[in-house]
Amino acid sequence: MSDQPSQSTAPMTGVTNDLREGEQTPRTGMTDFEGRVAVVTGGASGIGLGMARAFAGAGMKVVLGDLDTAALDAAVAELSAAGASAVGRRCDVSQLSDNEALADLAMDTYGKVNVFCANAGIGIPTATHNMKLDDWKWIIDVDLWGPIYGVKVFLPLIEEQGEGHINATASMAGLIASQMMGAYNVAKFGVVALMSTLERDLRGRKSPITASVLCPGPINTNISRHSVEYRPGQAKPKADGAVSARTASSIQSMLEQGMDPNEVGRLVLEAIGAARFWVLTHPRWAKTLQKQVDALVTDQSLSRA
Ligand SMILES: NC(=O)c1ccc[n+]([C@@H]2O[C@H](COP(=O)([O-])OP(=O)(O)OC[C@H]3O[C@@H](n4cnc5c(N)ncnc54)[C@H](O)[C@@H]3O)[C@@H](O)[C@H]2O)c1
Repeated sequence: MSDQPSQSTAPMTGVTNDLREGEQTPRTGMTDFEGRVAVVTGGASGIGLGMARAFAGAGMKVVLGDLDTAALDAAVAELSAAGASAVGRRCDVSQLSDNEALADLAMDTYGKVNVFCANAGIGIPTATHNMKLDDWKWIIDVDLWGPIYGVKVFLPLIEEQGEGHINATASMAGLIASQMMGAYNVAKFGVVALMSTLERDLRGRKSPITASVLCPGPINTNISRHSVEYRPGQAKPKADGAVSARTASSIQSMLEQGMDPNEVGRLVLEAIGAARFWVLTHPRWAKTLQKQVDALVTDQSLSRA
C-alpha cells in the first residue's frame, strides 16, 4: 500500500484538497482558436495589447476594455486593419458595472466569450509608512478588485460555452514582496491566490474550463506613465519623497530594457493552448522565491528579495 496520502488538508482551514483527484481530472488546453472570442481588460496598451494581437493572429475575435479611449480606438483600428474582428469600450475594471457592460458588449456583438484576461493594472512605488490610504484603495480596487469582478462576471459566460480559459495578470510581485511596492504587492499576491484557488476549484468540480496566472518580470510598457496619470489627484510619485522618485526612475529604466509586450502576448496564447497554470516571462527569477522558501524552512528568516 502506498504511504502517500490520497488527500491533503490545507493548513489553517482544514479544508480538504483532493490533489490526486485534481491531478487526474483532465486539463486540456484550447487547441482551436479560430472564431473563438477573447475579452482583454487593459487591452489598449502594453501586455494587454500584446495579448490582443496574439489572439487576433490566431483567428480569435477580440473585445477590449480600457480606461484610455484614444488608445482603445487606435488598438481596435489596428486590429481591424490587420483583418481581425475587434470591438472595444471604455471600462474601469474597479467598477463591477463596467465589467458587466464589457460582458454585454461581448455577448451583444459575438454571442459568447471563450477567453477572459483580467489584465488592467497600475502601481506606484512608495514606502509602506508613506503610502496614502487613497493610494492603497485605488491600487487594490484596480489590481485586485478588477480581477475579482472579472472572474465573477466572465466565468459563468465561459462555462456556458463548455470550454475556455480565464487568465489574470499578476506579477513577480505576486510571489516576492519587494520593498516600496506595498499596495501593489498586496494586490498581486491576492491575484495569485485568486487564480490558484479558482484553478483548484475548477479541477475539484471537474470543470472543462482552465485558469492561469501571468506573472511577468520587467516588460517594456507604459505602466509608469499610466499610473501617474490615473493616480487619484494625479500627484506625482516624487511628492512622496526622493526615495520614491529614485525607485520610480530605476523601475522605469528596468521596464525600458524589459521584454517586448508582444512576446508576452504570445506566451499567454501558448499557455492557454498548453493548459499551463503559471505563465512566467522570466522563469529564472523564480529562484528568488526558492531562496525565500529555503530561508523560511531553515531559520524562519525573510530572505533579501
Ligand atoms: N510592465 C511590467 O513590467 C509589468 C510587470 C508585471 C506585471 N505587470 C502587469 O501587467 C498588467 C498590464 O500592464 P502594462 O505593463 O501592460 O501597462 P500599460 O499601462 O501599458 O497597460 C495597462 C492598460 O491598463 C489600462 N488601465 C489602467 N487602469 C485601468 C482601469 N482602472 N480600468 C481599465 N483599464 C485600466 C491602461 O489605460 C493601459 O491601457 C498590469 O496588471 C501590470 O500590473 C506589468
